Amino acid sequence: MAAATTTTASSSRIGSRPTIPPGLHSDSFNPTSISFSSNIHGLSLKSSVSKKQLYSRRAGAVVITQTMDRVEVDISLSPRVNSVKPSKTVAITDQATALAQAGVPVIRLAAGEPDFDTPAPIAEAGINAIREGHTRYTPNAGTMELRSAICHKLKEENELSYTPDQILVSNGAKQSIVQAVLAVCSPGDEVLIPAPFWVSYPEMARMADATPVILPTSISEDFLLDPKLLESKLSEKSRLLILCSPSNPTGSVYPRKLLEEIAEIVARHPRLLVISDEIYKHIIYAPATYTSFASLPGMWDRTLTINGFSKAFAMTGWRLGYIAGPKHFVSACNKIQSQFTSGASSISQKAAVAALGLGYAGGEAVATMVKAFRERRDYLVKSFGEIDGVKISEPRGAFYLFIDLSSYYGVEVDGFGSINDSESLCRYLLDKAQVALVPGDAFGDDTCIRISYAASLSTLQAAVERIKKALVTLRSHVPV
Ligand SMILES: Cc1ncc(COP(=O)(O)O)c(C=O)c1O
Repeated sequence: MAAATTTTASSSRIGSRPTIPPGLHSDSFNPTSISFSSNIHGLSLKSSVSKKQLYSRRAGAVVITQTMDRVEVDISLSPRVNSVKPSKTVAITDQATALAQAGVPVIRLAAGEPDFDTPAPIAEAGINAIREGHTRYTPNAGTMELRSAICHKLKEENELSYTPDQILVSNGAKQSIVQAVLAVCSPGDEVLIPAPFWVSYPEMARMADATPVILPTSISEDFLLDPKLLESKLSEKSRLLILCSPSNPTGSVYPRKLLEEIAEIVARHPRLLVISDEIYKHIIYAPATYTSFASLPGMWDRTLTINGFSKAFAMTGWRLGYIAGPKHFVSACNKIQSQFTSGASSISQKAAVAALGLGYAGGEAVATMVKAFRERRDYLVKSFGEIDGVKISEPRGAFYLFIDLSSYYGVEVDGFGSINDSESLCRYLLDKAQVALVPGDAFGDDTCIRISYAASLSTLQAAVERIKKALVTLRSHVPV
């Protein structure tokens, strides 16, 4: 029952006709019929109410309680929300966390964040920023200090020349990407996304009323995009190609030669822009090497380079990312950001300056983390390589292993149900092995599952043992 309460200062006595509250029309103001147009508790109501009102006197004021007809709130949502899928990585992480909180010893290998603490000099810089009073709004695009430091880094490490007005700092690379998609896509445009993809890319395209066009790759080709497939899918509608190297979820790294072939194709399509998501750039395992797409001949003008601090510097909670690109596009993103969130955290920006000051590619602090990731990758590749029916493409970067376990599909497990896709297999592994992994389906490849190795080697060893056991049990079940 909706009830609206209007309190109005009045000298009227109990039993006398109260002052007509603002918003109520005097011609219709009687105890049984009120016609009004009002905004109560944030709900805009235009309604005719004919019900009893209750008047009472409270501390020198007349309180009018209108008991209205039930006014149903319109709970319909924008088609934009309905077109977007919720993130499965978040869903499975939440489920695993709930199990852990209930006392179930779940090993959580679903989340996409380093298990390391933010390196001490970065954290100190954040603390000092608060102590020194850097606690106010910064310019929308980010502090000049940070944008200049980013330009210096991009030059030193990526052979990329940008000026501070070609950089926009945001609350995480996720915001940088979605703003870029919103800034350049018009309804009906196509966004080309190689699969397996980071879960958010297709949804971001949909939010911009653009159409995601998925370009499948295969594990036997290390999940790298076939330039011929790209060429066959391009049309006047193609507005964006999103590349992610090193990749989440596969860990594959695009070799320079392949990027050059892709660049040649891109160059033939004037409408086509490229988002190059380089957020895992520092987490790369030699002999793999890194090439920034914008550094390739002719690509600077049409590439929007994305990077951030979450992954390499273990700063996921600091929420800081950036875009670098031609001023025209970066200014458009800046405009969107100015009406969404304004500038990123002043404290995080000070910490980010310290992160960039750690040395080439993050210096010792990042090298130590990369070394640990590499050991874990080697362990997992070897261990899963020994399990019957598992297909692997060795990751060259990031901290994920994307393995094909589809040979375990097609069985019925008593008391559990059938296992016929990546989602049911992940549910089974969470149930029976108590290991949380993410179904490949979330990344556009249902044959695989993603294992995040942002966990200690001993945790990974325990997880492998449990997964092995659960898979062996599966083999004993009758295929359906
Ligand atoms: C490929 C990729 N890009 C961008 C992001 C966004 O990172 P953040 O918003 O934390 O900077 C992530 C996070 O998982 C990612 O995996």
